Amino acid sequence: MSARITGTGSYAPAKVLRNADLERMVATSDEWIRERTGIRERRIAASGEACSDLAVQAGRRALEAARLAAADLDMILLATCTGDYPLPATACLVQHQLGATKAAACDLGAACSGFVYALSVADAYVKTGMRHVLVIGAEVMSAMTDWTDRNTCVLFGDGAGAAVVSAADGEAGILSTHLRSDGNLSDLIAVPGGGSRMPPSEKVVAEKLHCIKMKGNETFKVAVRTLEDIARETLEVNGLRVEDLDLYVPHQANVRILKAVAERLGLPLDKVMLNLDRYGNTSAASIPIALDEAVRSGRIREGSLVMLGAFGAGLTWASALIRW
Ligand code: ACO
Repeated sequence: MSARITGTGSYAPAKVLRNADLERMVATSDEWIRERTGIRERRIAASGEACSDLAVQAGRRALEAARLAAADLDMILLATCTGDYPLPATACLVQHQLGATKAAACDLGAACSGFVYALSVADAYVKTGMRHVLVIGAEVMSAMTDWTDRNTCVLFGDGAGAAVVSAADGEAGILSTHLRSDGNLSDLIAVPGGGSRMPPSEKVVAEKLHCIKMKGNETFKVAVRTLEDIARETLEVNGLRVEDLDLYVPHQANVRILKAVAERLGLPLDKVMLNLDRYGNTSAASIPIALDEAVRSGRIREGSLVMLGAFGAGLTWASALIRW
């Protein structure tokens, strides 16, 4: 029995925020943002548009691609750090909106690595008896962005991506998943306020402690190292070489990080899926959005060998190897 991705889908809000717009908000420039990050524009959710709204759209498209009805789902896993509410889980709102009447539903928090973590949970459940699991990565990063902080506000965007993981016969499917964490580096990327450590208060809001804070430069170095290490491990465990890969679909945080990783691995850049110029860093949504674009544009076809690579707050990092 294997666990196979049978459909993908994605959704991005209509509003486009270009670098030129950010030039009017903080002391930055289109040139700086493009050169340091590779980002040209990002999508921003409309007022009142929340994580579940994006997730439902992406989930519907993935179900359509898999030719399944929501009622066929056994489980919905939603990777996010920007859910609609602290309680209940956003996955339950998605379950209701989709009409997935017999599905279990829960959220999974591993920041930008969340989708790959959730995919690995889906893989395990499908290999032990479930038929169809919908895995979604959805984020409204704009809701926790400090729009006066140029160190972070230029980086993030909103969006959602989804994949249906189904039980299948044959060799193709998710070949292996690899998950890691290091809480010793938890201060590199954090939202300090709004949780039980520092509950919501006027001070939290006034000091923007409910917004994301990041030590960008240190994160950059750790990201390159962890992505390289986990990619090597993934290939080694499967007895494969980097030349065997058809496409690498990494977390879309910074084009310089991804160029450095590709160079260290000896992977040509045309085998790296890049779309961060149009979306920025959409955290848990970035890999499934990129995956969906790669499938729909024909860069991933039946038989393709695809590796996912993620890193994010926690720190967490993860990879998955998939024979399509
Ligand atoms: N416009 C202009 N200047 C800026 C901007 C900006 N938007 N942002 C920072 N600068 C300035 C800094 O203030 C600094 O100025 P100084 O030298 O006078 O102090 C200078 O640019 C250089 O800053 P660095 O932080 O050293 O720049 P760097 O080249 O490292 O790029 C960046 C910063 C883009 C944030 C990069 O470090 C990065 O991408 N890091 C990784 C982030 C990431 O991948 N996070 C992923 C996880 S997020 C999650 O999990 C939710």
